[in-house]
Amino acid sequence: MASGAPATLRVPLAQQPRLLKMKEMFISKFGSAPKFYVRAPGRVNLIGEHIDYCGYAVLPMAVEQDILIMVEPVKTQVIQLANTNPLYLDFSTSVNNIQINQTKPLWHNYFLCGLKGIQVELAEICTKSERYIGTEGGGMDQSISFLAEEGTAKLIEFSPLRATDVKLPSGAAFVIANSCVEMNKAATSHYNIRVMECRLATKLLSKSKGLAWKKMLKLQDVQVELGFSLEEMLTIVEEVFHPEPYSIQEICKCLGISLEELRTQILSQNTQDVTTFKLYQRAKHVYSEAARVLEFKKICSEAPANAVQLLGELMNQSHISCRDMYECSCPELDQLVDICLQFGAIGSRLTGAGWGGCTVSMVPTDKLTSFLKNVEQAYYKTDDQRLALENNSLFATKPGGGALVLLEA
Ligand code: GLA
Repeated sequence: MASGAPATLRVPLAQQPRLLKMKEMFISKFGSAPKFYVRAPGRVNLIGEHIDYCGYAVLPMAVEQDILIMVEPVKTQVIQLANTNPLYLDFSTSVNNIQINQTKPLWHNYFLCGLKGIQVELAEICTKSERYIGTEGGGMDQSISFLAEEGTAKLIEFSPLRATDVKLPSGAAFVIANSCVEMNKAATSHYNIRVMECRLATKLLSKSKGLAWKKMLKLQDVQVELGFSLEEMLTIVEEVFHPEPYSIQEICKCLGISLEELRTQILSQNTQDVTTFKLYQRAKHVYSEAARVLEFKKICSEAPANAVQLLGELMNQSHISCRDMYECSCPELDQLVDICLQFGAIGSRLTGAGWGGCTVSMVPTDKLTSFLKNVEQAYYKTDDQRLALENNSLFATKPGGGALVLLEA
């Protein structure tokens, strides 16, 4: 079951070189010691891409790698932020006047978002908080960060938020590989265009089925209202949508609203100027990916002898759907997926929003060492820039624990 608050752990600092080093930096910067530390894990989504904001369950896990924050509460109304990476400049502001500039991807904005969002509950608070940056995210990362438990991936369902253990098969490792391509979701509109395409597909599907389309926001809402299976929804998508992109004029006509109404009542700030939307392809991805997540969970719990093979196939289908239907891959991610499959991964796919970032691959444990060596050779050693990032870019990981507050023992 979902629970909100992060755990607390007492740690002897003497055995924690990373914490000790950070504490020293903190003291030399602020002249006093931090009162507590916070860690939050990195995450990887095993399957279920771009469907959380459509209402569908996803299947991520936290990894062992993490980010650390040191905190000292102060009596003044001024918050001071500093980063151990000198590339990210110090920042301070009054807590009474938080300004988040959505046009610039500044690191400290994420802290300000946290402050601004503090009125609602923790996992949901963070989902909502992220939206202040300008992206209409679905809440997968925030939910797994709080609800993760060591040793297990989770099926995360939304509204109401629920997490169920998914035991991954033994005999396979999950390997994360960074494509070394960066896509800033907040500074570009790629991500929000997809969210809007799903929202528009929801409205048009609802209207065509005589549902109250104005209050429907997510593709899952349509399925729930109609009481259909995901397979039946895929048939409906085929019947209702044409594969050619929809112009905004056509969308307005289908919904019987003006351009002005479309822009102010449906579209987000940074998608106002988009002129065409692909509804057929996006809806097909969402309903088929939602079905793959449930199938993945079923295979994990039934654990047949060929589980690794079956899960790998689902991961591969997911990548193909992300690439061709959702168009959220990029040439480097596709190349990396091909390389991973070539060197022994049974399944490999982009993970997270895409257009850059990482892949996740499932590799039989007995092939892991040679897999890592070969991928390093084929993807990282061929490019100086990638080689420079390679140390943190390619690693196997296990399901890690969730966010917690660290106190000095
Ligand atoms: C980003 C978002 C998530 C999710 C993924 C795609 O990581 O933050 O909410 O939508 O993209 O699955």
